[in-house]
Amino acid sequence: MTILITGGAGFIGSHVVRLFVETYPNYHIVNLDALTYAGNLENLKDIEYKSNYTFVKGDITDEGFINDLFEKYKFEGVIHLAAESHVDRSIKDPLAFVKTNVIGTMVILNAFKNLWKNNFDNKLFYHVSTDEVYGSLGQTGLFSETTSYDPNSPYSASKASSDHFVRAYGETYGMPYIITNCSNNYGQNQFPEKLIPLFINNIINNKPLPVYGDGNYTRDWLYVKDHAVAIDLVFRKGKNHETYNIGGFNEWKNIDLVKLLCRQMDEKLNRPKGSSEKLITYVKDRPGHDLRYAIDASKINKELGWKPSVTFEEGLDKTIDWYLSNEDWLHHVTSGEYQSYYEKQYSH
Ligand code: NAD
Ligand code: DAU
Repeated sequence: MTILITGGAGFIGSHVVRLFVETYPNYHIVNLDALTYAGNLENLKDIEYKSNYTFVKGDITDEGFINDLFEKYKFEGVIHLAAESHVDRSIKDPLAFVKTNVIGTMVILNAFKNLWKNNFDNKLFYHVSTDEVYGSLGQTGLFSETTSYDPNSPYSASKASSDHFVRAYGETYGMPYIITNCSNNYGQNQFPEKLIPLFINNIINNKPLPVYGDGNYTRDWLYVKDHAVAIDLVFRKGKNHETYNIGGFNEWKNIDLVKLLCRQMDEKLNRPKGSSEKLITYVKDRPGHDLRYAIDASKINKELGWKPSVTFEEGLDKTIDWYLSNEDWLHHVTSGEYQSYYEKQYSH
């Protein structure tokens, strides 16, 4: 079986690529990635010479290139992760999100549909999406697979749009598909623009920790390797034309999470208790900031037997250790463009 994984040089994608390459020697895994600021081949150094793995640099919005790629490799399965993924960047540059997340998904969908339209047997288009498409919860309740879409940011609106197109291709052309909507991931290789790696990097460098608003926003955190395991399970055993929600059963208010992170970092860095907490700085809120996300992951649990394998404390511990022992990685991704992004995002 030849499988296309898009966005495989990014955070979640690199964990999915590694899992597939290592677990399935009989699958040929093709990783297609444009290597934007978020894509990094250092994430896949350990598997780059495996015989069942091919990396292709390319942009999912480039229709001619994508059609040729599908003709060449005849992908029977697609796991589509390539996207612009950061909410703050989507507020500054929404069109970039429409281009990659909506148009790019359309280009991949079309190529897959045109290749197999006469016989979709044993084919699958797997679209990796987010819980943010459901909008924001109040203090109670959970997102289920039947919760209405209600996106609030340009990022989540672009992901919602791509989900709709995937579903529409399933209904209109009979294309086999599955969508998963997952909560906040954390772990090794996450670009330090997202809350946890940004704050780890700032603590290492004794820089302020910019908490948006009052910090009383809630997210449901999942260790990235557990997400990769869920994706593998759904790809092999999930039901055609279904959606599965994936979450960590692990809600944290931002400010409580940040304080836990600060305590763990003080210990790891042998700094006096309380030193990292002193770096907490409340800053201007994110516009349209969703109050709370929390996933009801009972469907994937009951139907496929999936559940997270690590506690948050264990996952955070592994994550911090990884960042502390991969200073080169952190240094490479925080030089250059990162500095001007940081200035623009946090200078007021
Ligand atoms: P990421 O930003 O770390 O990686 C995205 C990857 O896509 C990068 O390697 C980048 O180079 C590539 N890419 C971007 N534009 C491209 C283009 N035009 N053509 C080809 N490649 C391109 O993102 P991530 O956090 O790993 O998220 C991966 C997917 O999972 C996204 O679809 C995201 O919406 C979804 N998701 C993320 C989370 C999370 O917490 N990070 C949670 C749920 C769902
Ligand atoms: O829920 C899934 C989504 O989780 C994914 O689809 C997105 O790709 C991913 O980026 C993530 O979105 P969030 O906006 O929830 O993640 P982020 O790490 O940017 O922010 C987490 C929370 O922390 C959020 O309430 C905003 C807050 N925050 C974030 C940053 C970067 C801060 O308080 N300060 C910050 O500097």
